[in-house]
Amino acid sequence: KELQLNLEEIEKGGYDHFMLKEIYEQPRAIKDTYRGRLLADQGLIKMSGIDQNLEKFLNANRIIIVACGTSWHAGLVAEYIFEDLARISVEVEYASEFRYRNPVITDKDVLIAISQSGETADTLAAIKLAKEKGAFVFGVCNVVGSSIARETDAGAYTHAGPEIGVASTKAFTTQITVLTLMALKLAKEKGVFSESRFHEYLTELETIPAKVEKALLANPLVEIIADVYKDSTNCLYLGRGYNFPVALEGALKLKEISYIHAEGYPAAEMKHGPIALIDEQMPVIVIATKKGHYEKVVSNIQEIKSRKGKIIAIVTQGDEQVTELADHVIEVPETFESLTPLLTTIPLQLLSYHIAVMRGCNVDQPRNLAKSVTVE
Ligand code: AGP
Repeated sequence: KELQLNLEEIEKGGYDHFMLKEIYEQPRAIKDTYRGRLLADQGLIKMSGIDQNLEKFLNANRIIIVACGTSWHAGLVAEYIFEDLARISVEVEYASEFRYRNPVITDKDVLIAISQSGETADTLAAIKLAKEKGAFVFGVCNVVGSSIARETDAGAYTHAGPEIGVASTKAFTTQITVLTLMALKLAKEKGVFSESRFHEYLTELETIPAKVEKALLANPLVEIIADVYKDSTNCLYLGRGYNFPVALEGALKLKEISYIHAEGYPAAEMKHGPIALIDEQMPVIVIATKKGHYEKVVSNIQEIKSRKGKIIAIVTQGDEQVTELADHVIEVPETFESLTPLLTTIPLQLLSYHIAVMRGCNVDQPRNLAKSVTVE
């Protein structure tokens, strides 16, 4: 038992929990995931799984993304990236719904299955269904040789390293990294992207690990904010555009490790009902980075403020307007709009981690949860 404990301490690398270690591993994990694929100085993205199946992607009617949980949130980010950058039609499905709803699938469809463990039963079943109907299936997994990796026709691994904490963190950001590389590569192959715009993106993508490091510097501030809201019973996460899926992911993190009820919403949806929930007991986390409908998010924040909601805003470094309005402000470095999820998710991971620790929850093994849901 003693040896086991020591081994675990070594594996935690000095961090109190695997989850915190994995949050801090993200700069390296993102770099490891694009290493050998992102060749900015050559103006290239090398992905053999795509290169060998390029026609399938370019001639596809649409891309269907199937996943569960955090991986499903990564799929939602991918939908925005693929449609916005590569102009390819994408729809994102919960694997558990897709497998049972008798979906229309043809051999002109490409299915992308996203799974950290590569063992999620619903995702595996969705893949088998799609293959039966002739679709080409591409996997994005973190575990080499996992069932999903073996079942798919081709794929691209995230190189996040083992993710021990049940709450997925580095898997999410490395999944987005792989999906961004795929979308950029297809945008270039389709001729949607000019050489110069493509090169700009590759160069910006190379700066992301350092920008994640900078986002992590907010940790002490996030811990102070966590202490203020650790006893909340409800929490709302709002985001627009690329950061709508990040709002969902932030809410899931809080729910699964601190057991506080939290909900993610598109910021504009507030006025269609949820704004009735707002009162001085309700912390509202708003992702209000400079890119992507910033002015509209500012007016959403004003609506919440007029109802005495407490506002924690995730803003771009140097922001002034939201800083005037919010009760708490956490800054992330500036980047391209489509790359902001890689940064805005960092403070949300830290916030849920600190609140869970302060509530005495088992952060790495939350109650009733398994790392991989291998049964229905
Ligand atoms: C996320 O923090 C959860 N652990 C859970 O939602 C997870 O993302 C989901 O079960 C999917 O797992 P997978 O990526 O291994 O398929």
